[in-house]
Amino acid sequence: MTSYRPRRLRTTPAMRRLVREVRPHPAELVLPVFIHEDLAEERPITSLPGVSQHPLDAVPGLVQDAIEAGIGGLMLFAIPSVRDARGSGAVDPDGILNRAIGLAAEAAGDRLVIMADLCLDEFTDHGHCGVLDGAGRVDNDATNEVYAAMGLAQARAGAHVLGLSGMMDHQVAAVREVLEAEGFTDTALLAYAAKYASAFYGPFREAVDSQLQGDRRTYQLDPANGREGLHEAELDELEGADMVMVKPALPYLDVVAEVAAQSRVPVAAYHVSGEYAQIEAAAAQGWLDRRASHLEALTSMRRAGADIVVTYAALELAAWLKEN
Ligand code: PBG
Repeated sequence: MTSYRPRRLRTTPAMRRLVREVRPHPAELVLPVFIHEDLAEERPITSLPGVSQHPLDAVPGLVQDAIEAGIGGLMLFAIPSVRDARGSGAVDPDGILNRAIGLAAEAAGDRLVIMADLCLDEFTDHGHCGVLDGAGRVDNDATNEVYAAMGLAQARAGAHVLGLSGMMDHQVAAVREVLEAEGFTDTALLAYAAKYASAFYGPFREAVDSQLQGDRRTYQLDPANGREGLHEAELDELEGADMVMVKPALPYLDVVAEVAAQSRVPVAAYHVSGEYAQIEAAAAQGWLDRRASHLEALTSMRRAGADIVVTYAALELAAWLKEN
């Protein structure tokens, strides 16, 4: 009888390197960045150690750092000075996010992919991802009209990829339709197809000075539902999404794996603020090896099937991957 001894392939570093199934690379990493309209200088985000809010004029330097690190892209978020019920600042070509996109796209040229968050939560005074109806509920179709205008403004500003994170039904189709009509046929759509109503977004709320009262459970997915996440990803692909994302990442690797198996477009995973903060907090106590933990998290997302990983550790991961 043959003796299977799997340890043979683990005997030396050279052998382990030979048989490794995934090799994460800086090019597949995307770094989220926060641009704050009211800041004159960088302000650290307490609950996201190592991550800051930046003033608008920091954008070209952030783009340069990303290019030098060899990462794949930046995901831009912006915090406006003024918020209103309809999130008007998101649609205004002079709004802070659209100005940041313009600066980033100009600095990037074709050397880095500039992605923009397409959602209203940073721009509304109530903090929801959409506009509200008379009863205070998030109005799906009225929100899609604003998303279409916001998407067009972002495409005009020069964004290469629009990250639709609002979880409205038909949002991909609504944005795709206006982009086609206006001739923006090369603007790609990254659908946050399976975005769960997660407790792990906690530190992000500080990062964007969130105004939200209550929760997002009428539009984001219930953490108990895996098949519904697959359905969302399928619908977004049919509506014209160029890439689909699962978010958060590690608590939902089953969904990442199944979306990767069913999709014919690239799949992204977002290692969200709370996932990052868990590693940082434990590492600060000396309870985890910070570098090894971040690298293992990345490897696990790739192994599950993610082609692209959005992570606050992107720049450091890129440096570590080069050293390894
Ligand atoms: C919404 C948005 C959120 C995140 C990214 N886009 C917050 C939310 O849905 O509550 C969270 C990202 C993170 O936690 O890192 N525009």
